[in-house]
Amino acid sequence: MKTITLELLQKKYSIFIEKGLINNIGFYLKKIYKSNKIFIITDSNVYNLHINKLKDSLLKEDYLIEIVILEPGEKSKSFNTLGSVYSKLLDLKITRDDLIITFGGGVIGDLGGFVASTLLRGIPFVQIPTSLLAQIDSSVGGKVAINLPAGKNLVGSFYHPEAVFIDPDLLKTLPIRYLNDGMAEAIKYGLIKDKELFNKLKNFNTIDELFIEIEDIIYICCNIKKEIVEIDERDNKDRMLLNFGHTIGHAIEKYFKYEKYSHGEAVAIGMYIITKKSEEMKLTKENTADEIKNILIKYKLPYQLIDMNIDRLIENISNDKKIKGSNISIVLLEGIGNGFVKKIETKDIINYLK
Ligand SMILES: NC(=O)c1ccc[n+]([C@@H]2O[C@H](COP(=O)([O-])OP(=O)(O)OC[C@H]3O[C@@H](n4cnc5c(N)ncnc54)[C@H](O)[C@@H]3O)[C@@H](O)[C@H]2O)c1
Ligand SMILES: [Zn+2]
Repeated sequence: MKTITLELLQKKYSIFIEKGLINNIGFYLKKIYKSNKIFIITDSNVYNLHINKLKDSLLKEDYLIEIVILEPGEKSKSFNTLGSVYSKLLDLKITRDDLIITFGGGVIGDLGGFVASTLLRGIPFVQIPTSLLAQIDSSVGGKVAINLPAGKNLVGSFYHPEAVFIDPDLLKTLPIRYLNDGMAEAIKYGLIKDKELFNKLKNFNTIDELFIEIEDIIYICCNIKKEIVEIDERDNKDRMLLNFGHTIGHAIEKYFKYEKYSHGEAVAIGMYIITKKSEEMKLTKENTADEIKNILIKYKLPYQLIDMNIDRLIENISNDKKIKGSNISIVLLEGIGNGFVKKIETKDIINYLK
């Protein structure tokens, strides 16, 4: 089993990665959680496909289990769902000595983690991410949140789990669009930090080939995120690197009301657009944008902005919550594997896009 340990100011915990891990989670959980009640938060897709394995493995260790099942999809990351989950858990008599398990993609991890961070002033929780995006990104780093009508992730906190259990085998049932969506983040890690990872991803010819090495890829990605998060727990400086392609990506997602493009797709476009321009500006090594374009095509990810003009994009970027006042930090590449943060005046963003 591959293990990554995060050592943060307030907390130390591990990420465990292994194919088939779901069948032994009870055994490993026993080492870190001695009490016996567990509340699983999941969505109906993941429930239907995978709950029996999780249940069996927990029941073997005599845990008592309650399950809260939510509708799949971003809509569940809402105030309404949050309220209903609080009520259900309280009806089921949850206490601060119990454990919450979030079992699902990023939506379940974010919402369930936020529930755990706030209900009864905090209940310990464990993440079992089931989408590629959740396994390499959202379950690592302690950010939990829900959306408001005014925007995504506007209510949230930093709250770390007791452990993260990643079973890459669960990805076999993930629809291909979501797999590619997660690949956009894996590609991002390669671009900002790890040329070898980028080349690996570039060289797979089939999904089967990818799956043979998926455990390794997840490990490499989680490690990159771990290293960045450890240096900068709160999103201020170094962690910005993880935002490569995201300033543009968020603006695109939002403009299309989160319907036309998935997160990874929007980020894919963002990574290509900004790099094409920064290459023209001689801030990035020649040919980098083309390399990005080719890998995006390979994973059926878009790279061009369609049905949205650049002025709209710029307007939307100015409304991004991550943009503080008159300055904005953008992430650019020197070349593949080498990202850097550049602080510019918000009004100058136009130069990087137009
Ligand atoms: N906290 C963070 O740091 C962070 C980082 C990135 C993204 N996010 C958040 O993550 C969310 C997106 O995550 P996501 O893409 O995982 O979305 P998601 O949770 O909606 O999952 C995508 C879809 O895949 C299904 N699914 C999940 N696992 C499956 C499996 N093993 N087999 C079959 N189907 C499965 C889900 O039911 C859902 O329909 C967004 O809300 C985003 O804001 C958070
Ligand atoms: Zn992202």
